[in-house]
Amino acid sequence: MSKLFDPVRVGRYTLQNRLVMAPMTRSRAQRDGTPGELAAEYYAQRASVGLIVTEGTQPSDDGQGYLTTPGIYTDAHVAGWKKTTDAVHARGGHVFIQLMHAGRMSHPDNTPHHRLGVAPSAIAPGAPMFTVTGMQDIPAPRALTTEEVRQTVQDFRYAARRAIEAGADGVEIHGANAYLIQQFFAPSANARTDEYGGSIESRARFAIEVATAIAEEIGADRTAIRLSPGTTLWGIDEGVNGPDLYRHLVAELDKLGLAYLHIMHQGNEALLADVGKLWHGTLILNRPGRSREQVGADLATGLADLEAYGQMILANPDFVIRLKEGAPMNDADRNGFFGGAAQGYTDYPTLNEA
Ligand SMILES: Cc1cc2nc3c(=O)[nH]c(=O)nc-3n(C[C@H](O)[C@H](O)[C@H](O)COP(=O)(O)O)c2cc1C
Repeated sequence: MSKLFDPVRVGRYTLQNRLVMAPMTRSRAQRDGTPGELAAEYYAQRASVGLIVTEGTQPSDDGQGYLTTPGIYTDAHVAGWKKTTDAVHARGGHVFIQLMHAGRMSHPDNTPHHRLGVAPSAIAPGAPMFTVTGMQDIPAPRALTTEEVRQTVQDFRYAARRAIEAGADGVEIHGANAYLIQQFFAPSANARTDEYGGSIESRARFAIEVATAIAEEIGADRTAIRLSPGTTLWGIDEGVNGPDLYRHLVAELDKLGLAYLHIMHQGNEALLADVGKLWHGTLILNRPGRSREQVGADLATGLADLEAYGQMILANPDFVIRLKEGAPMNDADRNGFFGGAAQGYTDYPTLNEA
C-alpha cells in the first residue's frame, strides 16, 4: 500500500500522493452557475488527496443539464472558482475542474436560457430528470448543426482558458457517463451523416477535437479526459464495435501527450488491458464500488498510476489519514448528495472530530 502515499508527477505537477477525488456533482451552485458559498470549504477539507477533480462544470449555457450545477464561462464563475482553487492550494493540494457538457441529458427548466438540450441527434434519452417542479421526462434534444458542433469545441476551449484564469491546475474533459461526448460515441444517440457520425473515426472525432483544442489553449500537460467505455446509462448503446472505437480513440488521444487519462471502469477487463497498452501517459482508474480493502490493488499490479475514489472521499474529508492509520470510514449519506447546504456536504467529521 505504501506506493499510494508516494508523490507522483502528473502533467506539469508533482502530486503529494496517488489518491484522486473522483468528480462528483453536488448541485449546490447558485442559479447563475457561480459555485456556492461552501464549495471552497468542501474541497479544501479534502485537499490531502493528490488530486481533486471537481464536480462536472458546464462550459456554456447549452452545456448545463441539471439544476444548480456550476459553470466556468462568466466572470462570476471565475471569481467563484478562484475561492476553491486558492483554498485547495493553501492546503498543498491540486485541483482540475471537470468540464461537463450534458448534451441531451438536460431539461429546459434547468438551464439559464430554457432551451432544449443539444445533442448529436434529436433522440431522447428515455429518462426522467429532477427539475424545480420535480421529476419530468427529458424531451428529445435539438440536433447540433455541423457548424454548431465546431462552435461547441470552441466553447470547451474558452471554458478551459477561464478555468486556468480561475486558478485551476488543469481541466478534465468529461467524456463519460452518457453526457455529450459519449453521446457522439454511441450509435443509439448519434445518427449523424456528417463527419461526426457513422464510422468509429467519425464518432470519436468530436472528443479528439475537444482535447486537441484545449491542449492547444492551456497546454497538453494541463489537459485530461475521463472515459467510461461500455456505459449503458440513459439510452447509451455503443454497439458491437464500441470497444474498437475506444481502441482508436485512446490511440489518438495518446498522441496528444495529455496530463492523464481517467477511466471509470465499467467491467470490460480485456478492453481495459488494451487501453493500458495503448495509453503511454498517466492512467487514473476508478472502479465503482471498491471497498477500502481494495484500495491500492491497481497500483500494485501496475495497471493504474493513480486510483480515484468518489463516495469514500465525499464522506471522509481525511480519507488519506484514515487509510494510513487503518481507521474506520464514515458512510456516505445519499440524501445529502445533491442540493441543500452544509448537511451531507461539509459536515462529515474527521477522525479528530469524531
Ligand atoms: C453524488 C455523485 C455525483 C457524481 N457526479 C459525477 C460528475 O459530475 N462527473 C463524473 O464524471 N462522475 C460523477 N460521478 C461518478 C463518480 O465520479 C464515480 O465514478 C462513482 O461514484 C464511482 O466511484 P465510487 O464507487 O468510488 O464512488 C458522481 C458520483 C456520485 C456519487
